[in-house]
Amino acid sequence: MNQEKYWDKVAEEKEFPTPFKMEVFERYVFKNMKILDVGCGYGRTLNELYNNGFSNLTGLDYSQSMIDRGLKLYPHLNLIINNADDIPSPDNAFDSVILIGVLTSNVETKTQENLISEISRVLKNNGIFYLADFLINMDKRNLKRYQKYENKYGIYGVFELPEGVVLRHHTENHILKLTKDFTNLVFEKTVYKTMNAHKSNGFFYMGKKQQLY
Ligand SMILES: C[S@@+](CC[C@H](N)C(=O)[O-])C[C@H]1O[C@@H](n2cnc3c(N)ncnc32)[C@H](O)[C@@H]1O
Repeated sequence: MNQEKYWDKVAEEKEFPTPFKMEVFERYVFKNMKILDVGCGYGRTLNELYNNGFSNLTGLDYSQSMIDRGLKLYPHLNLIINNADDIPSPDNAFDSVILIGVLTSNVETKTQENLISEISRVLKNNGIFYLADFLINMDKRNLKRYQKYENKYGIYGVFELPEGVVLRHHTENHILKLTKDFTNLVFEKTVYKTMNAHKSNGFFYMGKKQQLY
């Protein structure tokens, strides 16, 4: 099953529990600013922003079923179907872009680099990038699956779930490399609950796009 079909299949059943750090976000992004949530799923983060007084909100996801669920739950949101690697917006269009739990299912480093460079393209200069995802774990269950799939995917931290998706847990160094063109504002390690109710190491990051020209 390809990754997109997987998200369509689970769109009605999964709850995404990664918390959004509203109090930190609000230090850098103001209520009237233009915000894009890439891989927005069923729109829960955008709805939290809406409930906190943000009004210029767009969500993008390549899963039709996720978008359908989101529009049913939150008909006031602007949610569109699109792949994150080709965002249908001009350059410098958004004050902030959010990417939560999306790198994990786009496991190739090249694909992740392309996603982040596309996000940088649509961010205004001084725009804020909010990123949250999973880090490598050290428990037996995770170590076993990292080892099992390392040869197949050529990346330590990638593994398959029997339900039909390939996921990646990242090293901290990898995340710092991916975000190297942004000015780092916040990088905080934490423990998240996953969509399958396990615990996993994770992080949230905020960076500023700063063009020197
Ligand atoms: C784990 S869910 C997280 C959803 C949301 N960010 C949240 O935290 O509630 C990942 C979402 O990203 C979407 N996604 C993954 N890769 C994508 C891509 N390349 N382009 C667009 N959407 C993508 C999936 O369809 C899924 O809805």
